[in-house]
Order: sequence, then structure tokens, then C-alpha cells
Amino acid sequence: MSTLKAVRGTRDLLPPETALWNRIEAVARSVFARYNFGEIRTPIFEDTALFARGVGEETDIVSKEMYTWEDRARAQSEKTQSLTLRPENTAGVVRAYIEHKLGETGQLAKLYYIGPQFRRERPQKGRYRQFSQIGAEVIGPTHAGSESPLRDAEVLEMLATFLDELGITGWTLKINSVGSSADRPRYIETLRTALAPVVSQMCPDCQRRAETNPLRVLDCKIPEDQPIIDALPRIADSLDEASRDHFAQVCAALDASGVPYTHDHRLVRGLDYYTRTTFEFTHGGLGAQNALLGGGRYDGLSEAIGGPKAPGIGFAMGEDRLVLTLQAQEANQKAAPPQVADTYIAPLGPAQNPAALALARTLRRQGLRVELGDGTFRLKKSFEAADKTARSIVLLGEDEAQSGILTVKVFATGSQSKVPQTELADLLAGLRNT
Ligand code: HAM
Repeated sequence: MSTLKAVRGTRDLLPPETALWNRIEAVARSVFARYNFGEIRTPIFEDTALFARGVGEETDIVSKEMYTWEDRARAQSEKTQSLTLRPENTAGVVRAYIEHKLGETGQLAKLYYIGPQFRRERPQKGRYRQFSQIGAEVIGPTHAGSESPLRDAEVLEMLATFLDELGITGWTLKINSVGSSADRPRYIETLRTALAPVVSQMCPDCQRRAETNPLRVLDCKIPEDQPIIDALPRIADSLDEASRDHFAQVCAALDASGVPYTHDHRLVRGLDYYTRTTFEFTHGGLGAQNALLGGGRYDGLSEAIGGPKAPGIGFAMGEDRLVLTLQAQEANQKAAPPQVADTYIAPLGPAQNPAALALARTLRRQGLRVELGDGTFRLKKSFEAADKTARSIVLLGEDEAQSGILTVKVFATGSQSKVPQTELADLLAGLRNT
């Protein structure tokens, strides 16, 4: 029988790497809490129509990357329904905002999420079919200030703070404005007109995009097409005064907070719900998939999926890519310290197993990381196992169990000593700093 493996584009995350994932999530939760965000958990699958209407039928995500299936009716009262594993979470969060009438509080809903997303993309470094996003959204009625450029700048400043606290250095922030829902069709027409005489010299993908979704031409990475794309009209020139002013205020607030950024005229992003501000943080160490995170404003998304007017702005970070970046940085600095237990308890014979478990319980409750051996092991095997997993070994024989005086060997120094059980926790904790 052939061996079963994880499906292409999916991965198992094992210790010690999972500790890094937990650290990233802990920093995110801590930073988001300081900006007064609360956590939301939405379902992993949703009605397919949510993404078709929210993200857009013409996008790559909806047209070719979704895991969609017909969910058969199980009872007469049920209907067969088209369901989709979420490819992103903004549409789901806005659906929840509408469903739970969060706008009725009159306040901004400030929500963050951490969890898996699914896209049937061609897997490569930094691109998976199941990946994890850490994202946040600020949504609310206009009178709560949801359209204010200050919200955009605050979200970007929070992201810079998060990356700094996590220790990711060397990121670049690119921002742009794709204009309001009135500006965009105007620009698309301008783009169509400008593309018409040159499109036949472009790559086949651009030729197709020029027909279906001309904005996507700006994403093209083919070197030969770049001079043509650079000469196309810029979206900034199609913005009306209100959109231009909004973008200028976002830039001014960023300048005042000292967050460095560049204005990238070609940053249009691959989801149709964006209006006005769009942004990406990239990192050179990531290779081809260099976007650490992306986001922007989506002032019409709530209405597009049947809700009230509720402008919003948010982002999602690729957690897999944060991990890759940190791993590359740590490899450049020094090897990450391996995960080691404070001690390894070696019961000297099966009769000592219960006493060893009791001692392990005491030490663990005192906050120590403890590996527990087994009384059937020979002493040599216990020492070998302890040396691989812990800073020290505690020998627990009949005498030790009765007297409460334990034999401890510290591997870093090679010293062996007798220690009263009451002093053991302090001694072991002290080894962490050696
Ligand atoms: P997105 O740009 O499609 O935006 O994805 C955001 C981030 O998720 C990307 O920058 C990347 O780091 C990560 N990502 C995307 N696809 C993959 C993949 N196949 N493998 C690994 N990582 C991936 C959104 O999803 C929007 N919902 C962001 C947003 C929130 N906009 C407003 N609010």
C-alpha cells in the first residue's frame, strides 16, 4: 500500500517551529490589544456567493483558486448549497458584522483574526494551498469615523509597531490609492484606451487581462512588459478631489508618526473590494512571494454583500511568511537556541516511577520544563536521553525518595551534587541563565 502524505500545498508544523508560530501570535495579540482590537472567529467555510460578491467574480481568487463544493441536502427542509473554504477572511468578517448588527452600537468594530485560509495556487516557497493569516479590520458607520484617513494611518502605524516588536527588520511599506467606486471605472476606461494600441506587444496574460480586468495588467511581472506598463496613465491622475485629499491626509499622518513608506502607483491589489487606500509590506528576504502582508480600504464591501453602508479598512499578514522571514534572520544572526527542558528526571527502577511522576508534577507546577524518564531504562540510556533534551538530570532512587536529597548533574559544567528537594526548583531555574 502506498504511504499517505500531507496533500500538496499543505504542511505539518512541528516543534520547535510551532514555538515560533506561537510567539508571533502572542506578539500580535499583545499589540492588537493595545490598539483596542478584539478577536473574532468566523467559520472556515462560507456560502460561495459571499466570495463571488465580496471578493469579485473576475479575480484570480474567485475564478480559479477556490475550494468549492456542492453540499448535498440531508433533509427535505435543507437545500443543496454551494460552499467554499475561505480563501480570505475580510468578506467573512464583514458578513459577521452585518449579521450581528455590530454597526448599531454606533462605534467602530475593531476585530482581529488568526487562522487558516485556502487557495488552490501553484505551491512554492512562501505560497501554500493552506496558509495562515493574521488580520484585522476596522468597520463602522460613517458617523463613527470609519472613513477617516486617520484610521488608515493608525492601522499602518500598528503594523509597523507589530513588525518592529516581532523583530522583523528591513521591511518596505508601499501605499497607493485606487480611488472611490466612481474614480475606478473612469480609470479603467482610460487604461483600456491606452492599452488598445500597445496590448498586442504584451504577454498573453496581459492580453487577456486587458479584456477582462485591465487593472490586473499593472501586476504583470514579465520584464519585457515593464516599459509599456510604466508608460501607462497613472491611477493618481484619475482620482477626484475627495480621493486625492483623503490620500494626502493618510500620507501626512504617516509622515507625522515617522512610519517610512513609498508611493507605488502600480499597487492595485488582487481583490475587487478595495477603494482608496491600498498597501503592502514587502520583505526582500522572501524571494518571489515577497508580500509579508497586504490590505486596504473597502468602503463599499458591506453594501456589495447586502449590508448597510459600513466603510472599513484592514489587512492580512501571511503568517507562514512572517515565520520564513524570522527564520532567515535568525539563521543570519545565530542559530536559535534549541528547545531544552530544565531537567530530566530519571527514576532508578520501575518502583520509583510514581515518586518520579510526583516530583515532575511538583517541579512543573513551579513553572519548570520537565522531561520524565522511565524506571525500566538503564542509567546509560537515561543519561543519553537527558543530554539530548535537558540541561540537567535528577536521579531518583529509593534512598533519594526517602531522604528527599536528590542527585543532580548539570551538563554545562559536568558537576554532580546532592540537593534537598526544597532547593531543587531554584537551582534548576538558575541554570537557564548559564
Ligand atoms: P491578500 O493580499 O490576498 O489579501 O493576502 C494577504 C497576505 O496573505 C499576503 O500578503 C500573503 O502574505 C498571504 N498569502 C496570500 N496567499 C498566500 C498563500 N497562498 N500562501 C501563503 N501566504 C499567502 C487578503 O487576503 C485581504 N483579505 C487582506 C485585507 C484585509 N484587506 C483588507 N482587509
